[in-house]
Amino acid sequence: MRDQPTVADPYPWYARLRTEAPVCRVRQEGGLEIYLVTRYEDARRALTDPRLSKNPEVGAETLAAAGEHTYRAVAVALAGNMLGTDPPEHTRLRRLLSAAFTQRRVEGLRPRVQAITDGLLDAVSGRREVDLMDALAFPLPITVICELLGVPAADRDDFRRWTTASLLPYGRPAQADGTRALNEYLAALIKAKRDRPSDDLISALITASADGRLSADEVLANAVLLLIAGHETTVNLIGNGVLALLREPHLWRELRRDPGLVPGAVEELLRYDGPVERATSRFAAEDVEIAGVTVPKGSVVIVALGSADRDPERFPDPDTVDLRRGENPHLAFGHGIHYCLGAPLARMEGQIAIGTLLRRFPDLALAAPAGALVWRESRLMRGLTALPVALGAPA
Ligand code: HEM
Repeated sequence: MRDQPTVADPYPWYARLRTEAPVCRVRQEGGLEIYLVTRYEDARRALTDPRLSKNPEVGAETLAAAGEHTYRAVAVALAGNMLGTDPPEHTRLRRLLSAAFTQRRVEGLRPRVQAITDGLLDAVSGRREVDLMDALAFPLPITVICELLGVPAADRDDFRRWTTASLLPYGRPAQADGTRALNEYLAALIKAKRDRPSDDLISALITASADGRLSADEVLANAVLLLIAGHETTVNLIGNGVLALLREPHLWRELRRDPGLVPGAVEELLRYDGPVERATSRFAAEDVEIAGVTVPKGSVVIVALGSADRDPERFPDPDTVDLRRGENPHLAFGHGIHYCLGAPLARMEGQIAIGTLLRRFPDLALAAPAGALVWRESRLMRGLTALPVALGAPA
């Protein structure tokens, strides 16, 4: 049994686990015991193993052993949404939503995402220093997902508080309060949209429920999932990604010289320091052997994507950001049937955010020592609380 590593830099801990205990039991804050999978090949296989279920009922005993609050929190977070179901329910839910996130639909959003990015950067361009999380990394994805879902962007400071709280470790009172506030807010919004539907994703979910393709609970559960998944993750792709580029300024200069490298750079940054570092959970529907370790039926399994993507067996020189890595089958968006639905959108937002910063603020630099930056305490996400940068002279 191992305890969790430091929030700021879990990678040396992962490196040790990959060699010493590639599938090991870890006690999380709040008392939940999980099996952590840290090697790339094991991770990839686990993500497509049908014996590893997404249904929290399968892990009910283990979850309840960590306390009633943990079981309840997991059940509330997963019940009725894509991330908490197996086929055939999962197939039905995913099909209903996938049309909104195809590559083509997402490409259609490109001008709007660029305009939002430009507007946010216009607002700070006279300043010497800004917190890039506040100025761009947070407001860009939340504005985009609010527009897609039909949620008033004016309320985004409230979501930021609620979703941040909802992702704290289980057992903290703020965690349950944040989840409740977010659910109540979206339930009220859905009620209002039932009377006045418009051309947005929540209205489309409501229409699907009117046809009987979706239950009322599933409308709410998937709206909550999209709102959280749609911004919490991309915020940290932008934050972690820009940090990695500014920490080693030669990377920033290389991208500035050759902006054609930006799409590949975003993939590499997702691999190097992805937002969903240690959050992809599964529940063992039967005893499952992984890397010689028997994971007993009912256990909680977490696939450490952040570790898999630093596995030297798969990625040469994994602790280095290589903007020209080429083949890059990282697992930052997961793998298999639950592969991130929003990946095309997240990629586009990441490419536009970084590409636009490079163009408009070519001399962007860190305004605080990297070692002094504070990482968020979160059950699910790896990301910064703030990223102070000096903007330099605008281009
Ligand atoms: C699933 C990562 C952005 C919506 C996932 C999974 C990962 C992930 C790892 C799989 C979880 C598992 O297998 O347990 C990320 C990252 C993002 C990002 C790193 C940004 C850089 C987005 C965005 C949206 C979104 C922008 C929506 C607009 C979803 C949904 C699922 C999902 C709905 C569940 C899919 C399913 O269960 O079939 N994401 N995501 N994600 N993501 Fe993302």
